[in-house]
Amino acid sequence: MEKTVSSITVRVFEDKLSGSQYIADALRSRIHTNDSDSKRTVLGLATGGSPKKVYDLLVESVETGELSFQNVTSFNLDEYYPIGPESRNSYHYYMNQRLFNHTDVDPGQVFIPEGDIEVSEVDHYCKAYERKIAGYGGIEIQLLGIGGNGHIGFNEPGSSIESETRLIHLDEKTRRDAADSFGGIHQTPEKAITMGVKTILNAKKIYCMAWGAHKARPVQQLIEGEITAEWPVTFLQTHANVELIIDRAAASLLTDSSNFIVN
Ligand code: F6R
Repeated sequence: MEKTVSSITVRVFEDKLSGSQYIADALRSRIHTNDSDSKRTVLGLATGGSPKKVYDLLVESVETGELSFQNVTSFNLDEYYPIGPESRNSYHYYMNQRLFNHTDVDPGQVFIPEGDIEVSEVDHYCKAYERKIAGYGGIEIQLLGIGGNGHIGFNEPGSSIESETRLIHLDEKTRRDAADSFGGIHQTPEKAITMGVKTILNAKKIYCMAWGAHKARPVQQLIEGEITAEWPVTFLQTHANVELIIDRAAASLLTDSSNFIVN
């Protein structure tokens, strides 16, 4: 079922699989439409646990020949800093393993912030990342997860709605969440390069997804909270074309949840 709160369409699904299927279908169909119009599809992509199933489904479609990434250009939201692309914890590694290695995407059309550039180059690099996105006419569809602390990309609490791609200090909670995979908090990077809130809000369409009870609080804030930099996810309320795709557990704190019909 669906309901529109401010400008956000909320769709509550029975589980992560059916929600992920909805998003994968939407992506497939946009890529097909653009392919028939001989247009490239410019995607903004996320990492982490939330989009894994979506990527699995897209890979299945590529493997059965239903989908091609030949006309896809992609920009990832973020990357730890400093980190090399070969590190198993890097988002480069994640994207290659989960998606790109299993598709026919042109590697020259894949853009992920580089976590191994010199610190003196970072500002220049971030500005160039913004120009690159603009050069492709902007992001058509942005996939987003939500951090437990309400971050989008690595726009941590306190980030401005006007922020662009930049180096950011990671929140303590974000680092603790990542610490296991890095083998402890001390090995976990303190910084990351992230698209800004403004960069994300410039996307024409945003699919934001959240699965599980641990996402119920930021989801509630997104739908029922005031717009505040303390919960960067609430900035999505200012965007005209956001769909929030969640499972029942992530919807559990919504006051109005009786009004939602499960898709
Ligand atoms: C990842 C990203 C982050 C995650 C968020 C949720 O590229 O930008 O904002 O989307 O931390 O992470 P998961 O999906 O692992 O719960």
